[in-house]
Amino acid sequence: MPEYIPMREVTHSDYKEFLKTHDHVVIENVKVALPKEHKITKFAPTEFECTKCKARYRPKPPKICNCAMKENLTPDEIKKLLELPNEKKFVLVEYEKETTTAWSFPDRGDWATHIGNYRGNWSPYIPRNLILRYTKEGDLVLDQMVGSGTTLVECKLLGRRSIGVDINQDAIMVTRNRLDFSPPPDYTFPSGEKYQEPKIETYEGDARNLNEVPDGKVDLIATHPPYASIIPYSKQRVPGDLSSVHDIAEFAKAMRIGADQSYRKLRPGGHCAILMGDTRRHKHFVPITPRVLQSFLDAGFILREDIIKMQWKMKSTRERWRGKNYDFLLIAHEHLYVFRKPEKGEKMSQFKESMKWQ
Ligand SMILES: C[S@@+](CC[C@H](N)C(=O)[O-])C[C@H]1O[C@@H](n2cnc3c(N)ncnc32)[C@H](O)[C@@H]1O
Repeated sequence: MPEYIPMREVTHSDYKEFLKTHDHVVIENVKVALPKEHKITKFAPTEFECTKCKARYRPKPPKICNCAMKENLTPDEIKKLLELPNEKKFVLVEYEKETTTAWSFPDRGDWATHIGNYRGNWSPYIPRNLILRYTKEGDLVLDQMVGSGTTLVECKLLGRRSIGVDINQDAIMVTRNRLDFSPPPDYTFPSGEKYQEPKIETYEGDARNLNEVPDGKVDLIATHPPYASIIPYSKQRVPGDLSSVHDIAEFAKAMRIGADQSYRKLRPGGHCAILMGDTRRHKHFVPITPRVLQSFLDAGFILREDIIKMQWKMKSTRERWRGKNYDFLLIAHEHLYVFRKPEKGEKMSQFKESMKWQ
C-alpha cells in the first residue's frame, strides 16, 4: 500500500500563531478571509410556520401564506392581511429535518459562521440533517475532507464531539477560523439542554490514512470529497490532494481506500454519509457517483439512503453554460449516499439486496 502522510494535529494555538502572519488564505484562486472576530446574528436556521395552516417557510416567511391565496379573498381582505405584522401570521419554529430522499436548499444557510465563499462547500443544512438524524448529543462525528469546516461548526452548535481532517493546511486554518466563536450565554441545544462546548480536533492529513482517529469509535462520518478534478482545490500544490486526480479510475481507487478507512473508524451500527457528484466531458456524462457507491459497498457497508440533492448556483455547470444553447442537459443534482456499518452478529442475509452485488 502506498504511503500517505500521517495526521498532524492543528490546535487552536497553532491557528492563533498562523493568524499573526496571515489574514487570509487562497483556495482555488479565491481569497478566503480569516476575520479576527465574527459578527453572528443567528445561531440556527430559521423556519416559520403559518399560524393558520401550519405550512413551513425558511429562511423567511412570505408576506402572505399560500393558504390565503386559496380562500378567494377580496382585494380589500388581501390588503388587510398584507398590512398585518408578520408575528400575527407566522411563528418562528425549530428547524425540522428533511423527511424525503430529495433535498433542496436554495438559501444555502447563513447562520453562525457559515458563508459560501469556500468553493464547493456544502450547505450546512446537509450536515445538520445528518447529525440530527444519525447521532445524539456527545456522539463523535468525523469529516476527513473538512474543507472550510461546515460539518464541525454544526457539531459545535449541536453538541457533538468532532474530528476534522484536510490534506490542505490552509483549509484547516479556515475551519479553525469558522470555529472561533462562542454561542451566547442563553444558547441551548435543540433538546433544551444547557450548552456545553464539545471537544473538537482538527488535523492536516490524508483521508486514506486516519492514523490518529481511534478504530471503531466514530458514530457518524459526514464528508464531502472533491468530485475528481472538477474543482482543483490546490492545483497539485498539495501532494495527495484528490482534486488533482483527473483519471476517474484512479479517483475511484482512492475512494475505495477511503471507504476502507471509514469502515474501520466507525463503530458497528454507525453511519457514513458521502456527498458526490458527476461530471461531463466532451458533451457526455461521466458517472462518478456509481463508482463511489460501489467502493463503499465493496468495503462492506450497507446502503441506507440514496438522497438526491439539488444543486444551486454551481460554477462548474450552470454558470459556465448559462444562456448558451447546448445539446446536453446541465447537471443539477448530486447524490448523498448514507451507508451503515453492520452491527456485530447482525443477520446479514436480510440486507443482501442493499449490499455489494456480484
Ligand atoms: C468539497 S471540499 C469539502 C468542503 C466542505 N464540505 C465544506 O463545507 O467546506 C473537498 C475537500 O477535500 C480536501 N481533500 C482533497 N484530497 C484530500 C485527501 N486526500 N485527504 C483529505 N482531504 C482531501 C480538499 O482540500 C477540500 O478541502
